[in-house]
Amino acid sequence: MSIGRGEPASGAGTSPAAGLARPILEVDNLTVTFGDGPGSVRAVDEVSLAVETGDIYAIVGESGCGKSTLAYALLDIIPPPGRVTSGEVRFKGRSLSQMSRGELNRVRAAEVAMVFQAAMNAFHPVITIGAHVDHTLQAHPEVFASRSEGREYFRYLLNLVRLRPERTWDAYESQLSGGMKQRVAIALALVLKPSVVVLDEPTTALDVLNQRLMIDILADLHRSLGVSIVFVTHDLALVAELAGRVAVMYAGRLVESGTVDEIFASGGRRHPYVTALTAAIPTVVGAVSDVRPIPGEVPNLAQLPPGCRFSPRCALAEPICQEQEPALLQDDRGHLVACHVANRLLGVPSK
Ligand SMILES: Nc1ncnc2c1ncn2[C@@H]1O[C@H](COP(=O)(O)OP(=O)(O)OP(=O)(O)O)[C@@H](O)[C@H]1O
Ligand SMILES: [Mg+2]
Repeated sequence: MSIGRGEPASGAGTSPAAGLARPILEVDNLTVTFGDGPGSVRAVDEVSLAVETGDIYAIVGESGCGKSTLAYALLDIIPPPGRVTSGEVRFKGRSLSQMSRGELNRVRAAEVAMVFQAAMNAFHPVITIGAHVDHTLQAHPEVFASRSEGREYFRYLLNLVRLRPERTWDAYESQLSGGMKQRVAIALALVLKPSVVVLDEPTTALDVLNQRLMIDILADLHRSLGVSIVFVTHDLALVAELAGRVAVMYAGRLVESGTVDEIFASGGRRHPYVTALTAAIPTVVGAVSDVRPIPGEVPNLAQLPPGCRFSPRCALAEPICQEQEPALLQDDRGHLVACHVANRLLGVPSK
């Protein structure tokens, strides 16, 4: 048992490469703050995590908990007035804050690609998809020996995202459905062969059938390209099907992280918020009355409750939970939980 700052290097559900090399992406004690003075908020508050090469890593939590801000921080593209106020993000061991502008631009373009929350709206309406691709290839001539090789690779990616290249290349965005545009955006993000792709809410804007298709596509891309995937979602069903490793955020804090098996295990040491989140998922076969919404509301980040941020909504809360913020404690397998009550299972007395 130890106080979690970083994460373990291996575990069930992660890539076979896990533990052999240093993580491809490391978030180290990162805090991102919006605003100054008393009204300022920490959208990401002392968060640490490690993505291993080949991982499919999910970042989960309710709206406003800081998921997108954390995803932006992975590429150092936090929108102002947000800024990193402590900690850092490292790509292959190099701190983004130490990189020159040129190096950072190369990492963003060809190493860590991002598919934004509303990616399907990102295409220029009077430019064909093929012209978007050419524009990207032109800006990075170092990736392929020739333009035609780059175009050929994009066509291969279109097949992987289940689109017909001959129909897509000359299309304008208005000729494609929302689901198709989302898939083109993913193919475009992958065309420069990044080692990591970060997807913000890849299924949120899709209907149920397209959500299913998206899960299959992401699994295929992972298998075929060996790309590491980080995705942000509030959809736990997506997490259960796709992820190997999961980080759960609540009001800017990391409250639990581990393998997907640890996060969805029905017994053992779990954060009550994660238990409540799983009980709040509707299922296709279950009755609506089986769904138990989480009582109360996500706290305003500018007026956080004392102690554990989840305590006002927690069925298991004890007096200590209103007084002291729980430490993120790690068991022998690297499963991290920040909860006074759950962590008693580790035999560590609360101070
Ligand atoms: N531009 C901004 N100006 C001020 N505060 C901001 C800004 N963007 C985000 N925040 C703060 O950061 C918090 C986290 O926002 P973020 O977009 O990262 O949440 P999220 O988990 O991605 O939510 P959602 O699921 O709705 O996309 C917000 O609750 C808000 O307090
Ligand atoms: Mg978001």
